[in-house]
Amino acid sequence: MFRIPSWRHATLAAGTCTALTALVMGGAWGAQATTSDTAAPRARAAAPDIDVAAVQAHLSELQTVADNNGGNRAHGRPGYKASVDLLKSRLDAAGFTTTVQEFDHSGAKGYNLIADWPGGGVDQVVMAGAHLDSVRGGAGINDNGSGSAALWEVALAVAKADLKPTKHLRFAWWGAEEDGMIGSTHYVENLNRTDLGKLDAYLNFDMVGSPNPGYFVYDDDPELERTFTDWYQTKNIVTEPETEGDGRSDHAPFKDAGVRVGGVFSGAEAEKSAAQAKKWGGKAGESFDPCYHSSCDGKANIDATALDTNSDAIAHAIWKLSS
Ligand code: TRP
Ligand code: CA
Ligand code: ZN
Repeated sequence: MFRIPSWRHATLAAGTCTALTALVMGGAWGAQATTSDTAAPRARAAAPDIDVAAVQAHLSELQTVADNNGGNRAHGRPGYKASVDLLKSRLDAAGFTTTVQEFDHSGAKGYNLIADWPGGGVDQVVMAGAHLDSVRGGAGINDNGSGSAALWEVALAVAKADLKPTKHLRFAWWGAEEDGMIGSTHYVENLNRTDLGKLDAYLNFDMVGSPNPGYFVYDDDPELERTFTDWYQTKNIVTEPETEGDGRSDHAPFKDAGVRVGGVFSGAEAEKSAAQAKKWGGKAGESFDPCYHSSCDGKANIDATALDTNSDAIAHAIWKLSS
């Protein structure tokens, strides 16, 4: 299968040279440094612990957006655009360069919110995304307020740390995922070859606070998978590879375009097995998310421990992969 076109190899080779140069320069700065406060060590600092209360506060705001807009945040409904406007204002205030990318789908305008963190390498981009839309039948707090809010707080943490990553960091909140990954597909289709070639990795977060949680790590790329599994291991959490999700969320168009993808997932309609309940707690024989795509996917439909752990994992991966 020739999924990765040859022009991509050329671009990646150029990117690797830049990364090597940066490494060598980083070493030189380290050797010359006589005082502790230099730029190089700061870029390699450990990720902060993400405060789950802040993530939960974002979820409350998304719940309020749904409550004020007919109970949902779905594509083509006012609750979706209100979600975009809310998040955009917070990211702008934190110093991100935001872009709203419009598209048309089934007779309605759709919106992707893209947020670039100024600086970082120009040749290599680490991108992380979450779909911000809900289904029409509910507020979509676990699916996918959870991934959206976790990434939102991690983005604010990047700003707070004034992170100076080696690679460029770009965050995305997708529209119309629930209609078939429309927003993310539109984004990938409209990237030119040069910009597509710069994408070093795409990380996806769709459902990370399921009320009867599992700990699944996308198995698409070994290095990205290990970045997560090694971290969970330090928390004594034994993960399972996410195999059910291939093609089921916004990483699919990136993977199809030859970009390496990763992510974590806490489970949707599938049932937790007895063995899984034994290692993760929760209820065997019940769905990871019994409110999946239902009206009960509201603020109460979140496991705070899973949301906390997964938010911390996301921060770790973004710090590590962009450093
Ligand atoms: N994307 C799905 C949705 O929004 C949720 C989902 C189900 C999922 N299985 C997955 C996401 C596996 C990521 C991985 O309805
Ligand atoms: Ca935390
Ligand atoms: Zn969904």
